[in-house]
Amino acid sequence: MSPATDQPGQREVVLRVENLSLWFGEVCVLDGVDFEMRAGEVVGLIGPGGVGKTVFCKLCCGLLEPDGGRIEVLGQDLSGASGKERQALRERIGLVFQNYALFDFMTVGDNVAFPMRQRASHLAKDQREAFSEENIAAKVQERLAEVDLPRVRHLMPNELSGGMKKRVGLARANINDPELIFFDDPTAGLDPVTSSKIFNLIRKTQAQRNSSCLVVSHDIDRMRPACDRYILLYQGKVHFSGTAQQAMASKDPVLRDFFGKEAGLIA
Ligand SMILES: Nc1ncnc2c1ncn2[C@@H]1O[C@H](COP(=O)(O)OP(=O)(O)OP(=O)(O)O)[C@@H](O)[C@H]1O
Ligand SMILES: [Mg+2]
Repeated sequence: MSPATDQPGQREVVLRVENLSLWFGEVCVLDGVDFEMRAGEVVGLIGPGGVGKTVFCKLCCGLLEPDGGRIEVLGQDLSGASGKERQALRERIGLVFQNYALFDFMTVGDNVAFPMRQRASHLAKDQREAFSEENIAAKVQERLAEVDLPRVRHLMPNELSGGMKKRVGLARANINDPELIFFDDPTAGLDPVTSSKIFNLIRKTQAQRNSSCLVVSHDIDRMRPACDRYILLYQGKVHFSGTAQQAMASKDPVLRDFFGKEAGLIA
């Protein structure tokens, strides 16, 4: 998907969320969330632990059903989509799970190849040429090299460090050249140097492919080079949407907890 213009406000909308609500039993997690993201944007999604960042990503990928509201992904209304349409849509979306979610019984190479093989399995036989085992192996190698892991294809996930697993997750999310990618806490538990590398990598691959990214993180300082703007989820709603500069200029106490002196971002 290529943007029609260089002005973000005029590019096509890749994700539109209207009045989204989600309950778990008696607990209201999302209470009327509105959000819009345009082609080529990298948006940071921040908020306290347990506020609903992960469930928001899962809702947008169609892995959870909302209790109310509407989600439009890449021009398609999720609620009205048939099983086949959802499947086709999922193949255009990447998701990096918070907890790696690698299959521990498959090699790294097979993990990265998995979404590509899934995609091939939904195609007619005469459309599968680009998905030969040779082409899959080449693409897997390319994606692993991009995340600086050119020699781990034959290893099992339990032979990797936490940071390596995160990078394998990134390679897997990118294998089908998705137009829209959700990164759920891609640097949780990583050392500061590796975290910065991962955020730089997110920005670099986004720029190369002109994809759109929603990046969840608590590490606002390190994610800043990757993000064009932020949304802050708080008490079930989008409390703020804007740039880091706008957030840092605000006197709102909730924002200051994340972006102000209290967060150590302003001297
Ligand atoms: N499957 C589930 N069943 C019941 N409650 C759930 C389920 N999944 C999430 N929740 C609840 O929904 C709320 C939001 O959870 P979520 O994982 O989205 O938080 P988060 O913002 O991603 O937190 P963190 O920053 O710690 O990752 C929490 O109160 C959590 O307990
Ligand atoms: Mg989470």
